[in-house]
Amino acid sequence: GGHVTYDPGFMNTANAKSSITYIDGDEGILRYRGYPIEDLAQHSSFIEVAYLLIFGELPSEDQLAEFDQTVRKHTMVHEDIKVFFSGFPRDAHPMAVLASAVSALSTFYPDSLDPHDEREVEVSTFRLLSKLPTLAAYAYKKSLGEPMLYPQNSLSYTENFLRLCFGVPAEDYEVDPEIAKALDQLLILHADHEQNCSTSTVRLVGSSDANMFASVSGGINALYGPKHGGANEAVLNMLRRIQAEGISPEDYMEKVKNKEEGVRLMGFGHRVYKNYDPRARIVKSTADSILKKIGGDDELLDIALRLEEKALADDYFVERKLYPNVDFYTGLIYKAMGFPEKMFTVLFAIGRLPGWIAQWREMMQDSDTKIGRPRQVYTGAPERRYPGAK
Ligand code: CMC
Repeated sequence: GGHVTYDPGFMNTANAKSSITYIDGDEGILRYRGYPIEDLAQHSSFIEVAYLLIFGELPSEDQLAEFDQTVRKHTMVHEDIKVFFSGFPRDAHPMAVLASAVSALSTFYPDSLDPHDEREVEVSTFRLLSKLPTLAAYAYKKSLGEPMLYPQNSLSYTENFLRLCFGVPAEDYEVDPEIAKALDQLLILHADHEQNCSTSTVRLVGSSDANMFASVSGGINALYGPKHGGANEAVLNMLRRIQAEGISPEDYMEKVKNKEEGVRLMGFGHRVYKNYDPRARIVKSTADSILKKIGGDDELLDIALRLEEKALADDYFVERKLYPNVDFYTGLIYKAMGFPEKMFTVLFAIGRLPGWIAQWREMMQDSDTKIGRPRQVYTGAPERRYPGAK
């Protein structure tokens, strides 16, 4: 009984008080802990941003060095986890493999599962931050049929991940500093985005006092969908389709506007931004320079630029306030770095991890937290008798 508010998609319902990320969707503003995303993207590092999101303040030089060292120390995974990967079909999507591997961490690390034990939360924080890139790279190696490498802890977070993905045991691998820097910046841009679908999922799972690994695994599964993190893969598939079928950007726009076969302009639109996504602005400006340096697919970039130009001048998009979001240009960069489409959303997951951890920890410490349990508006049959029942 009682009054319930019907709010599908939580358009107007705040499920949390949070001091982590601020978004003004009308103005196109994004800040982590008060710091503008533009400043962080230009001057910070992903590992520093992870510290900022999780602990609330920028670290001192010593704090950062210690944090970085601890993250580097935990990069190896239990040997038995590797066996786990071989059970999946070779063409398994790496997002599904990653979510399963993170879920399996609960079985490997039963000594850091208590969500209300400060020390155990600290340990699981480091375990997750350190091991996610390793697991992500192993999911990739599995899809290639290549051997998995051991992490090399003399390398930075991002460099280590690139080597685990693209290195092979028979050869030395030189990390390209341009690529490492560009990837690090993209990870910063993805690091948190307040109560998005995957983060809300992490909170909802965690609200039952489920452990951090279980909660984050839920978040990875939520991110997998094409309306959320899966959009970066969907954008590239869309651009490729336009290229392969020789459709003009104008004709594709007509299909989108006529809502043919559920065709959407992937990488456009956002629940909160009704203005240019500030992350997309940064990605667009770096896309151009990084693609020039490392060489990218000019034809696909050209299609993307033309689609954007058309959309921003089209009534359909203007009326609905649809602008490019972070995913519109990221795929082109990931591709130029050598990642196949299937890995794009995995890269998003690595980027979003500090946000998931920070939000989960914030929730666990908030005395207002209750188990997440939405209400419903029942529309089914009234009471009726089972045939033969008295
Ligand atoms: N192309 C064409 N039409 C669109 C698009 C699009 N990309 N996005 C929204 N619309 C239309 C939609 O059809 C609806 O029109 P109408 O009023 O005529 O029915 C109107 O705009 C409002 O759309 P909505 O689906 O009610 O808006 P929402 O806030 O529920 O959805 C969204 C937000 C991101 C799911 C949606 O814009 C979308 O599907 N975009 C494409 C997928 C995408 O790029 N997702 C990445 C989001 S950013 C990264 C992340 O956080 O994951």
